[in-house]
Amino acid sequence: MQIESATSIQLAELEKELSAHYERICQHELSLDITRGKPSAEQLNLSDNLDGILAADYRAADGTDTRNYGGLIGLTCARELGADMLQVPTEEVIAAGNSSLTLMYHAVVTGYLFGFAGNTPWRELKAPKFLCPVPGYDRHFTICEQLGIGMINIPMDEEGPDMDAVEKHIREDSEIIGIWCVPKYSNPSGVTYSKETVERLAQLGQITNPGFRIFWDNAYSVHDLGHYVSLPNIRSATLENDTVDSVLQFASTSKVTHAGSGVAFVSASSANLASLKHQLQAMTIGPDKVNQLRHSRFFTEFTTLKEHMRKHANILKPKFECVLEHLQHGLGESDLGQWEKPEGGYFVSFNTRPGCAKTVVQLAADAGVKLTPAGATFPYRKDPEDSNIRIAPSFPSLEELDTAMSVFVLCVKLASVRQQLKQAS
Ligand SMILES: Cc1ncc(COP(=O)(O)O)c(C=O)c1O
Repeated sequence: MQIESATSIQLAELEKELSAHYERICQHELSLDITRGKPSAEQLNLSDNLDGILAADYRAADGTDTRNYGGLIGLTCARELGADMLQVPTEEVIAAGNSSLTLMYHAVVTGYLFGFAGNTPWRELKAPKFLCPVPGYDRHFTICEQLGIGMINIPMDEEGPDMDAVEKHIREDSEIIGIWCVPKYSNPSGVTYSKETVERLAQLGQITNPGFRIFWDNAYSVHDLGHYVSLPNIRSATLENDTVDSVLQFASTSKVTHAGSGVAFVSASSANLASLKHQLQAMTIGPDKVNQLRHSRFFTEFTTLKEHMRKHANILKPKFECVLEHLQHGLGESDLGQWEKPEGGYFVSFNTRPGCAKTVVQLAADAGVKLTPAGATFPYRKDPEDSNIRIAPSFPSLEELDTAMSVFVLCVKLASVRQQLKQAS
């Protein structure tokens, strides 16, 4: 279907046909949800052996009684797990509670209130700002918005953020104090940053103000659907460029074990870790070490974790295939949208024709299919093109997803044809 070249009569006929189909679907009173990237119950079941794994043996290998207070930076065995996930030395890792997002929030507040490694606290700047590759992860943007930190959109391409734009902004504005990065299987575009992008990011510390930090949210470091995709190591790149203080790395086992009760990690240079610890020690006496010990008994070696991720992939892969098949079959030969084919992560990013995303989301909602709100993948929820929609295939069953995707494709067609008709008249 190429609606750009269709006549008004053809468009009107098509609209009538699609509307009739849509009305029939609405009568089915569906209630489906493909909004958030949550693991399905089947995926969560893979980690149920965490329960009872300690068998009343609460001592870590180093003798720590994990039931008690203390251990601000986490158990060594848990830090080793984080080090494997992020490919960094254990000494540079803090193992914390269940959420890396909490750690990111904590890190932004540290920069904002106290500054990192002796640099000016961001709150003392006139207009501190983060660079935000878009489309991106809505919760990153919420953190900035809540603290009144400005946000600048940076386009993403197939190699990661547009580095010319990143460098240009940094050269022109010394109050840019951070950039959000989801470097592997980016949320939502699925892009993995190229070697050149990682190298250029590692060089930023040479041109930014010294308080600038890259927030390297490696949430999908082990979430490959097929073969293992390797991400260039940012820590090694910063060592080569003498910019080690410019990066803070994050990961968690949220989408590895149980999403609500995993273990989260932050990794950084010793100067940055000192800044984080300074604030952390006022916040807590220590993390949930019992849960950390459970995780390190569950994953005795990194290879055990990788094998476990294969089981996730076996569940997730057919769901991604279902989404992609619907898109290809329904929209493949059309000018109605573009999408990526991710090799891992949790999302498929779909771009409608400009100006159609909100209508598609509304039409789908009215037909009983809940999608992530249009605009959610942009700072301030404003997609300048009104085009990006994030599809999250993991949570629903394959059957539900199949139905939800037929509705989605129908809504894309209907919204696009109606828009084109309006423009033609
Ligand atoms: C890019 C990204 N970072 C972080 C998170 C949340 O991680 P956590 O559960 O460790 O807080 C998500 C969850 O969807 C995510 O997509």
